[in-house]
Amino acid sequence: MIEKERFLEMFLNVVPPDLGGYLEGNAGGSSIRKIEGQTLYKICSIFQPKTIVETGTHSGCSTNYLLKYAVENRATVYSFDVVSNAGADIIKDLRSALVLNKPKRKLWRKDVNLEDIKKTRDMFIETAQRGIDLFFHDSDHRYKNVKWEFDNITCFMGKGSPVILHDVLNDTANHETHLLFKEVVCSWKHIFDTPSGLGLIVL
Ligand SMILES: C[S@@+](CC[C@H](N)C(=O)[O-])C[C@H]1O[C@@H](n2cnc3c(N)ncnc32)[C@H](O)[C@@H]1O
Repeated sequence: MIEKERFLEMFLNVVPPDLGGYLEGNAGGSSIRKIEGQTLYKICSIFQPKTIVETGTHSGCSTNYLLKYAVENRATVYSFDVVSNAGADIIKDLRSALVLNKPKRKLWRKDVNLEDIKKTRDMFIETAQRGIDLFFHDSDHRYKNVKWEFDNITCFMGKGSPVILHDVLNDTANHETHLLFKEVVCSWKHIFDTPSGLGLIVL
């Protein structure tokens, strides 16, 4: 397992790509920022995962950074969302490394019901069971959901594997990821001080 000091040392030396982010105006306000995407890329470059799972595709800002790493390193990104228009901004040239799981029928956020969420969760478990090397959470940030996803994926991940949680420095309404981040018992943790905070958990 990589030690925290070694990780932070390596982190400084990875040169990330520039694929934009929501501040750069190529995606909606719910997307991650460029510095966060670059942080995802750098974490991937150090841990070298082959199978990556992301929840919360939205426009695809974070997906692009994970995919950039994946294309360069023959890895695969499985991304999950409950709405059918997810992934609109995913870069065409990066799609070869992507398995996008979203509803087949037209489904907007306001129409998503419990049955739709269950279908996404079933696909998520089916993927997780095959073995996962890195998990990035950016879907529903309420504690119950973050905890459900964390528990149901980490049971298929090995010790020393990375889990990244978006918004760990955000405690506005419905943003409860920080609660899970604080309570998790793991090998080590680190918070990247981006505007909303990216929390890295090493299992
Ligand atoms: C904050 S946005 C994600 C932003 C995205 N990572 C980006 O950088 O563009 C949250 C997304 O999570 C999706 N979502 C909400 N609940 C979900 C669930 N239970 N499973 C999967 N996706 C979910 C929403 O539809 C929304 O698109």
